[in-house]
Amino acid sequence: MSSPSAEGRRLFFALWPDAELQRALYEVGRAIAPPGGKPMVAHNLHITLAFLGTIDADKRLCMEKAADAIQLPPFELALDCAGFWPRPQVVWLGCSSIPETLRTLAARLSAAMAACGLTPESRPYTPHLTVLRQARQGPRQLDMDTVHWAVGDFVLVQSLTLPEGARYQVVRRWPLVGQM
Ligand code: 2AM
Repeated sequence: MSSPSAEGRRLFFALWPDAELQRALYEVGRAIAPPGGKPMVAHNLHITLAFLGTIDADKRLCMEKAADAIQLPPFELALDCAGFWPRPQVVWLGCSSIPETLRTLAARLSAAMAACGLTPESRPYTPHLTVLRQARQGPRQLDMDTVHWAVGDFVLVQSLTLPEGARYQVVRRWPLVGQM
């Protein structure tokens, strides 16, 4: 069966690297990943801004309108460290310094979730790019050569659950064009 089930569809806002950057981040991820686990495929690599879950059309429209109203400038993200969360069992790449624009972008989307009747994440926003799932141990090293990412937009992504695993599809894109 190749068509995804309706229940398997979930939405989230994310920063989405272009294909070249995804490939570079995939290589870094493979280099630092411990043995075992399930590597994220290059074309799925991203940083989540706000996870919406499975939502109806009204709530989706409400969130898209909120995204239309966000006016923030492009920013530079320096991915310079790796980490491991034992409970979700993920190894990730992250940034030792979180750009203020990124914090603001995530905060605006979180506020929009509450305004649209969704339940935002209660924990502080921790940007991370998951490279390995079902990880049993941490990365081979915690530091890495910095990967610079010029972030010029953010996206809405649909998560499709296919027999071969999750497939993430960008469904809309918003340019970062405003002022802080
Ligand atoms: P993760 O990579 O750390 O697992 C799609 O599932 C994206 O949304 C993933 O990047 C995932 O982060 C993130 N996410 C955040 N909260 C989630 C949740 N409650 N369930 C599934 N994914 C979540």
